Amino acid sequence: MEQINSRVFNYKNYNFFKDQTTAELIDLLQSFEVRDSDLFLVTYPKSGELKNLLIYFCIGGNNMLLFLFTGTIWAQQIMISICELDGGLNNYINNSGQMPWLEYHDKDEDYSLRASPRLFTSHLTPALMPPQLKDKKAKIIYVMRNPKDNIVSYYHFSCALKVMETPKSFECFLEEFLNGNVPGSSWFDHIREWHLNKDQYNILFLTYEDMTLDLKAAITKICKFLGKNLNEETIEQVVEKCTFKTMKKDPKANYEFLPKDMFDGNFMRKGQIGDWKNSFTVAQSERVDKMLQEKLGNLSLKFICE
Ligand code: A3P
Repeated sequence: MEQINSRVFNYKNYNFFKDQTTAELIDLLQSFEVRDSDLFLVTYPKSGELKNLLIYFCIGGNNMLLFLFTGTIWAQQIMISICELDGGLNNYINNSGQMPWLEYHDKDEDYSLRASPRLFTSHLTPALMPPQLKDKKAKIIYVMRNPKDNIVSYYHFSCALKVMETPKSFECFLEEFLNGNVPGSSWFDHIREWHLNKDQYNILFLTYEDMTLDLKAAITKICKFLGKNLNEETIEQVVEKCTFKTMKKDPKANYEFLPKDMFDGNFMRKGQIGDWKNSFTVAQSERVDKMLQEKLGNLSLKFICE
């Protein structure tokens, strides 16, 4: 692993949080045995500049590994709720335990012992994902958010995490983000690589904005992709479990169990499209628009920013 700055390490062209994973663990994913029934959620991270995100909780004598990112928790809740209401899942202490991160693996747990369907989360790029994903029927849901709200959400999360170095200013964070010097590397590259490789996977692309503008339609789309034939009433139940209001109160989904000296903020912060306008200058906004056009313009993606 090559050190990028005091908080970020690069391995195989991808930035990881310092001290939170190893080259060996990432290499092991190359032989990770994927099951046809596995479900993966992939997102670009929006937390940044973290010193220590790996948190072990001792609950009932079991070491529970929680790796905290945001950007993902909504889709986690949707996928878990669908699977629970479809036929049940083993009970885990919270969504992070139910749907662990591939690249920040709890060494004490052998995922091959988990019952199917197994659910995993990842922020990795295609090159680092288990190659067997290409040969199996396993499914991937890839969720993206418009870059401006992604940046602001990532910035606030970084400021709230007490165990990490706080970004000096929004401007400094923006610079690091646009240069790809944050964990997860470049947001633009992440999205481009997943889109360019999409034909090799069983993958559904969704946006945060799709989910915000019509949650029921997004959930129905996800059910269809996952082959879950839920009736109308059950879909309504999933919708109810996944609204901002419900999730904010749901201790399995809202991450409020974190001690304040570790995270002094709100994972369920605002949950809006367009909050970036409270942080960006006109020049910063134009700069992101320009980069979006230069780097992803040929993919015909549409990001709703307001
Ligand atoms: P904000 O920081 O803009 O409020 P993510 O983007 O990572 O999904 O995760 C965190 C962001 O998602 C936060 O955005 C959070 O408020 C938002 N979020 C999480 N659950 C949500 C929900 N049920 N509805 C709307 N937004 C949600």
